Amino acid sequence: MKISVPTETAPREQRVALAPDSVARLIKQLKVEVAVQRGAGLRAGFRDEAYQASGATLLDDAAAAFSGAEVVAKVQPPSAAEIARIPNGTTLISLLRPGHSAETSAALAQRQVTALALELVPRITRAQSMDVLSSQSTVAGYKAVLIGASTLGKFLPMLTTAAGNISPAKVFVIGAGVAGLQAIATARRLGGVVSAFDVRPAAREQVQSLGASFVANELVSESAQTAGGYARAQTEDEQARTLAAIGNHIKDMDLVVTTAQIPGRTAPTLITEEMVLSMRAGSVIVDLAAETGGNCALSKPGEVVQVHDVTILAPLNVASTVAFHASQMFGRNIFELLKHLVQDGALVLDPNDEITGAMMMTHQGKVLR
Ligand code: NAI
Repeated sequence: MKISVPTETAPREQRVALAPDSVARLIKQLKVEVAVQRGAGLRAGFRDEAYQASGATLLDDAAAAFSGAEVVAKVQPPSAAEIARIPNGTTLISLLRPGHSAETSAALAQRQVTALALELVPRITRAQSMDVLSSQSTVAGYKAVLIGASTLGKFLPMLTTAAGNISPAKVFVIGAGVAGLQAIATARRLGGVVSAFDVRPAAREQVQSLGASFVANELVSESAQTAGGYARAQTEDEQARTLAAIGNHIKDMDLVVTTAQIPGRTAPTLITEEMVLSMRAGSVIVDLAAETGGNCALSKPGEVVQVHDVTILAPLNVASTVAFHASQMFGRNIFELLKHLVQDGALVLDPNDEITGAMMMTHQGKVLR
């Protein structure tokens, strides 16, 4: 069985689906062949020689990378031109934006491609190691704090210097899921005084265990978490109370990182223009929910805006900017998924399997979700 890795072609995408460490493990542990397009890992810091040393063969171009393999592993959804290169019967493992890309799924189904959407890995303990949304959120949460810190005209840590004492910066993280928790840990490592807010009780415990203070205890409720582990949308009354609590707290903050998301919906607006107006001059907001509309009413996805003396950044595809480790983690997730899918050197695609079935976006010519 052969797995191939093409070079990513989406704008600003620097990651690669498999890093050399995962290639080596696939070859050694699953006894499969791996082929990598020349230059596919370069923007993430992996030379062709590193792939060769891991046992991969090199392919000269995209045409070769999309054909001749049983499995194609990618980061970003394939373009129409890339889909046209995938032979009938191939299995594609990639982020595929299920529910937002009818054209892509129709084209993949038409080519009889079995498309496994990495966004659909179920949130069960067994599948945690395959979850690219989690691994890439870890990367994004870390980088968001660095972006914020480099924009802020203040130190994060407390300093005692010959020029006098410096107070630590106050960092507020809204949404304490995977990205938010990593943002909290990173801001704490840099010496900031960190507070955070989320609606789920499990998140409150995790915030406190990281040494951050939790804002608005009274707004956390058991019912805020769905069976899938995600937050549900708030009722109007809950939303109003959340906004009041955030509004009260945000006035004294230097750096705010927002990560709040509701699966399948636009992100909740948790910072209004009025709140931005109330913030300290020079303070910074990094809106990590920009991809789904943003948590700040004034965010412009992909842009940096300055409003009321506050800088609001809404970066897109943040994980790609830490391409080496993001690719390494992405590749390890794919390795774990393939470990689940490959039995005795052969690919087993069982639509009734709890993990495989949940991820199938197209199979046997049909669009399943
Ligand atoms: P996410 O990216 O969908 O959302 C980020 C955070 O925003 C969540 O913690 C959510 O509670 C919070 N949020 C939503 N609405 C909010 C509001 N109005 N105000 C404040 N916060 C709000 O979620 P993420 O980070 O992907 O995962 C959430 C949880 O799911 C994790 O903490 C974990 O417990 C669980 N999980 C389980 C996995 C598994 O078992 N395989 C894999 C990944 C996550």
